[in-house]
Amino acid sequence: MVSNIAVIGMQWGDEGKGKIIDFLAEKADVVARFNGGNNAGHTLNVGDKKTVLHLIPSGILHPKKLNIIGNGVVVDPKVITDKMDELRGNKVKISPENLFISSNAHVILPWHIEEDKEKGKALGTTKRGVGPCYADKISRVGLKMQHFVNEAIFKKRCGEHPFYEEYLGYANTLKKYVSDTSILINNALDKGAKVLFEGAQATLLDIDHGTYPFVTSSNTTAGGICTGLGIGPTKVNSIMGILKAYTSRVGEGPFPTELTDSVGEKLREKGKEFGSTTGRPRRCGWLDIVAAKYSVRINGLHSVALLKLDVLDGMEKLNICVGYKYKGKVLNEFTTDLNVLTNCDPIYEVFDGWWEDTSKITEFDKMPPNAKKYIKRVEQLLGIPISIISVGPRRDQTIIRNAGFVF
Ligand code: GDP
Ligand code: IMO
Ligand code: MG
Repeated sequence: MVSNIAVIGMQWGDEGKGKIIDFLAEKADVVARFNGGNNAGHTLNVGDKKTVLHLIPSGILHPKKLNIIGNGVVVDPKVITDKMDELRGNKVKISPENLFISSNAHVILPWHIEEDKEKGKALGTTKRGVGPCYADKISRVGLKMQHFVNEAIFKKRCGEHPFYEEYLGYANTLKKYVSDTSILINNALDKGAKVLFEGAQATLLDIDHGTYPFVTSSNTTAGGICTGLGIGPTKVNSIMGILKAYTSRVGEGPFPTELTDSVGEKLREKGKEFGSTTGRPRRCGWLDIVAAKYSVRINGLHSVALLKLDVLDGMEKLNICVGYKYKGKVLNEFTTDLNVLTNCDPIYEVFDGWWEDTSKITEFDKMPPNAKKYIKRVEQLLGIPISIISVGPRRDQTIIRNAGFVF
């Protein structure tokens, strides 16, 4: 049994982090976001109802959880205010008792969005102003939440701009949610509260460790938990990687196992791989173990949740990439060298598929033999346990294989 769990994407995002956070949140006391902004899209399915969250932590649908937006997150005041209204319309309770925004989180302003629309074209960004906002933060010219909700400071910085009055309204609404969230989360951890760290984006989109420049602008990896929330590394005690049973990517950048044929199309259709933030079709391909092993290393993962296994039902053959061939040499380690990633050929292990419908299976032992083989081989290659298997979007389509890694 663990007391806190970090949920980290192992690929290029959209692995199903929202589903796992929502599932684990049932037994958690606190859910905390530490990076990214409303470029994220985390889908939660409760019963027949689907909710997509971009910025507010995925614990919000469970009553009585504390939801924290950490200092490492960039906050669009208009987006968060609108979402709070929308959620309240759906009878979700949001108050300064269950939602807290760090006074040190930076604010996305309209000019960041304008800049992103121009500069982000070549990368295929989500155009939410995330990159330009982080750029201002690092250049030390950004606006923090504490400045935004201080009328005198906000007026001095933005009083001349046409958006000032509208944004002053958001500042007044958000003021009561802004606090020193590092104190809050450290107190919770010290009291033994169960804390979930909700990662946005994923390892291969990390600003330092991803496929730069085709990345997002924050540390999406486990190191970002500490800097993005104001807690020490000694406090984080279990890190769970989220791995989709195949791979997807939105936006530009290298993707060694990408399938541009009818198999890729089948994965996209069956997996409903269309962006939850921008609606763009996601590029799809086979599971890349070279990349996944890199995620195990960069994040120091303890276990893995394998998602969307059901999407592979009914495929004649399945491939897993176990190495890259580049200029006649076999590479076993992932690299951020775009030249290699763009020009290498994946080396595949080929598996027989299964025809059974796995979406109603509730125990690992009842899985089709070929699905078991696939899962066990992935586990063996990664070298850490697969603690959760997900066979559908709903909470009840979740198989716990190793209870030592969940609450
Ligand atoms: P996130 O960004 O990592 O939270 O993932 P997204 O929410 O952007 O995308 C994952 C999509 O897959 C969502 O539509 C989920 O409802 C859906 N999903 C999650 N787990 C499963 C699963 O095991 N099977 C299927 N078929 N869909 C899933
Ligand atoms: P979740 O949390 C998938 C991608 C964009 C683009 C690149 C940079 O739902 O997994 P940005 O707007 O961040 O400057 O865009 O990163 N991207 C994501 N792809 N899932 C996400 O979040 C993403 N957030 C950003 O498509 O390629
Ligand atoms: Mg997503």
